[in-house]
Amino acid sequence: MMATRRIDEQTTSEIVKQFDAKPEMLVQILQAIVMRYGWVPEDTIRQLADEVNLSRADVYGVVTYYHDFRTEPPGEHIVKICQAEACQAMGSRTLTDHARRSLGTALHETNEDVTLEPVYCLGNCACAPAVMIDGKTHGRVNADRFDELVGAMKESR
Ligand code: FES
Repeated sequence: MMATRRIDEQTTSEIVKQFDAKPEMLVQILQAIVMRYGWVPEDTIRQLADEVNLSRADVYGVVTYYHDFRTEPPGEHIVKICQAEACQAMGSRTLTDHARRSLGTALHETNEDVTLEPVYCLGNCACAPAVMIDGKTHGRVNADRFDELVGAMKESR
């Protein structure tokens, strides 16, 4: 399921309360926020700093340390390519190079509303290399199959 990109302050506060507003739970709070919204905007960083009683620089430091905590909204479509061992053995690096060229974007970045992300095991190792497109996993993806899947994804807009 796609995460909604719209942020609302009250929901953010509720997430913070679920973790008792504990500063040591900041990573878990951020994970819950990213699950919900897909990103962590500047305003949310400010709000979190207030609510868990940390400085904005502290929160920002944690956000920028982890690639998963993006500070820009993701694209409408999210393409993830597995980089873990079984998929690497079956060519996921070459596939990732192909994906970068074909989508015109680097890992962790977005072009034309498509975000390209690495992922570390999709539980589909028997069908490596594995790709996830908008939450759906596909196995044994080569460059041609990748382009077909991306074409279908773009048509589904
Ligand atoms: S290593 Fe890629 S799906 Fe498990």
